[in-house]
Parts: sequence; structure tokens; C-alpha cells
Amino acid sequence: MSKSMRIAVLPGDGTGPEVVNEALKVLEAVSKIEGFTYSTESFDFGGDRYLASGYIIEQSDIDNLRSNFDAILLGAVGHPGVKPGILEKGLLLRLRFALDQYINLRPVKLYPGVECPLKDKGPEDIDFDVIRENTEDLYCGNGGIMRMGTAQEVSTQEMIATRFGAERCLRYAFEFCRRKKAEGRGRGRLTLVHKTNVLTFCGDTWFRAFEEIGQADYPDIERDYNHIDAACMWFVKNPEFYDTIVVPNMFGDIITDLGAMIQGGMGIAAGGNLNPDPGGTSMYEPIGGSAPKYTGKGVINPLAAIGALAMLLEHSGQVQAGRRVEEAIKKTTPQLKSMSAGRMGHSTSEVGDLVCGQL
Ligand code: IPM
Ligand code: MN
Repeated sequence: MSKSMRIAVLPGDGTGPEVVNEALKVLEAVSKIEGFTYSTESFDFGGDRYLASGYIIEQSDIDNLRSNFDAILLGAVGHPGVKPGILEKGLLLRLRFALDQYINLRPVKLYPGVECPLKDKGPEDIDFDVIRENTEDLYCGNGGIMRMGTAQEVSTQEMIATRFGAERCLRYAFEFCRRKKAEGRGRGRLTLVHKTNVLTFCGDTWFRAFEEIGQADYPDIERDYNHIDAACMWFVKNPEFYDTIVVPNMFGDIITDLGAMIQGGMGIAAGGNLNPDPGGTSMYEPIGGSAPKYTGKGVINPLAAIGALAMLLEHSGQVQAGRRVEEAIKKTTPQLKSMSAGRMGHSTSEVGDLVCGQL
């Protein structure tokens, strides 16, 4: 019997608290069925607290999350009253970087009964995983503005790739792809997405690392390469081709929004910011934002947050519980009219209840 799981809950802004509540409801229900114990502690980091006090998050908070919790469940970050970038950089990216969550794992799965905008594509066609590097690239924030406000204004924003960062992400992706194949859930094909024809420096570091690591240590995994623009085209035209994708941060951000759309929208797309190293603290979240216009109305879809919970459980040693939650989501999606906020045919909390009923 493993020890009790300690979960830090960061509901955040907008609809974050509403969807996190439903995930916690499902957590309580599945813990009883699977017979594990856990504790939660909630933190009010986010826009409201920032506006009231100027406080975003401190090193001591990060140390607390790192030392005292096994995982973090995050609702949403982003507040209409706060200038864009402050909370995104100050809270979300700060946590990803400080906790060295170098993998952003975003499954793209079309669940049964979910409307797909792609003609003639079903759940058997849309089922792949995107492994996005999560600590480097344009997200490092290197650069600056000179001569601001003049006609000669110059700004730069640098793309950073390190061999270390690319390599640890690639190795995670190769291992992930191999495991999927061994479990009969994948074909052992890993696609690197980049833009090596234009980004000839960063792209080269990634491509060489991909080839070298693959040749030396993963000859059983098929290596495939797509330029980012072509990948966008294939996501729409032939999504069934993909098994596992590995991609640097910025391109990964973009293609996972496209991925979310082909799996039925932001209401259903979940992801994990993983630090897979021993003792690492990972953070799970719905991919969508804080949806201010739906806040407090009870119309937001909680399935993405519940999907994030499923990932949290699966990656925190409660594999069976995580799979059980995912199966319950699959049985719930056919009962909803739509995955979109306000059009589900059920309230936020009714959807949470439906999932609990299917556990
Ligand atoms: C995401 C978001 C974030 C990102 C923003 C809010 C900083 O779009 O999680 O994909 O760009 O990573
Ligand atoms: Mn994004």
C-alpha cells in the first residue's frame, strides 16, 4: 500500500475553480472505489490575489510545493483585469520553470460521441500524444526592446535550444513511444516537429540529437520528421498517421491548440507539466484558459480538468485509478450534446456527477 498522496490545488482564475471542484469530486469518488488515501491543500495564487495584494508567487511558495506535495492540480491562469503576460509569466511559466517541469504531455484523443470538426474522422483516427518541451525555446524570455517608442524601435526575442534540454525531452519521448508500443497502444513511431529548413541552428541541434539518440538507443522506434507547417496540414488531413510527436516549446504550444480542436475543443483537452525525474513535482491542467465570459455561470465543461486529474493519478502511482477516470470520461462524452461551454445540455456540476456515476 503506497503512502497517502499529497495534492496541491491551484484553482486559479475565472472558471478554474469551477472545473477544479468537479475534478476534486471525481477524485473523492475514485479514491473510495480504488481504496487509496490522499490529502489536498488549496492555494489562492492568481489574478484576484494579485490585484488585491500585488502578490503572485514567491520562492518560498515554490519550495513548499516542491517539498511537500506529490502533484499539483491547476485550474486556469489569466485574468481580464491583469495585463497579459504578468500572470502567464509570473505564475504559470514560473512554476513550470522553477519546478523544472520539462515535459508538457498533451494527449490528443477523440473520445466517443464527441463532435469532430474533421469530416469522416472518428476516435480510431485521432489518438496520439504530443510531448512538448516545456522549459526552453522562445519561452526563456531572452531579448529586449531598444529605442522604445521611436520610429527606430528594435525588439528581439531569442529562440534557445540546448543539447541538454533537447536530449532529455527526446529521451522521454522515445521511452514514452516504446512503452506505448509495448502496451499495444502505439505503433512505435516518433515524429519530430520543427522547422529545420529555416531555423537552421536550433533545428539542427534538435535534429542531430534526435537522429543520434534514436540510432544509438532506440533502433526499435521509427523516426519521422515533419516541418511545423506540414504538421498543421497533416493534423487536419491525416491525423491517424501520428503516434507520438516530440516538439520544442513554441511550436508545441501552437500545435496542441490545433490538437485540442480536432479532439473536440478546449472543454476536453488536458495536459501535464511533468518533471519525470525522481522526486519531481508535476502539475496537471486543462489546456484551456480561464474563460472569463463563462465564469460563475456553471456552464463550463469540467471534462478537461477531470482528464487532467486522470493524468495526475496515472503519473503519481495510481495508474488504475487514473485509467478508471479516463474510462468514465469516455462513457460520459456520448451523453453530452457538445463539449463547448453552455451547449453541453448539462451544467458543470452535472457533468461531474455523470463522471462519478460512470466510475
Ligand atoms: C498553454 C498556454 C501557455 C503557454 C500560456 C498561458 C503562457 O497557452 O499552456 O499552452 O503558452 O504555454
Ligand atoms: Mn497554449
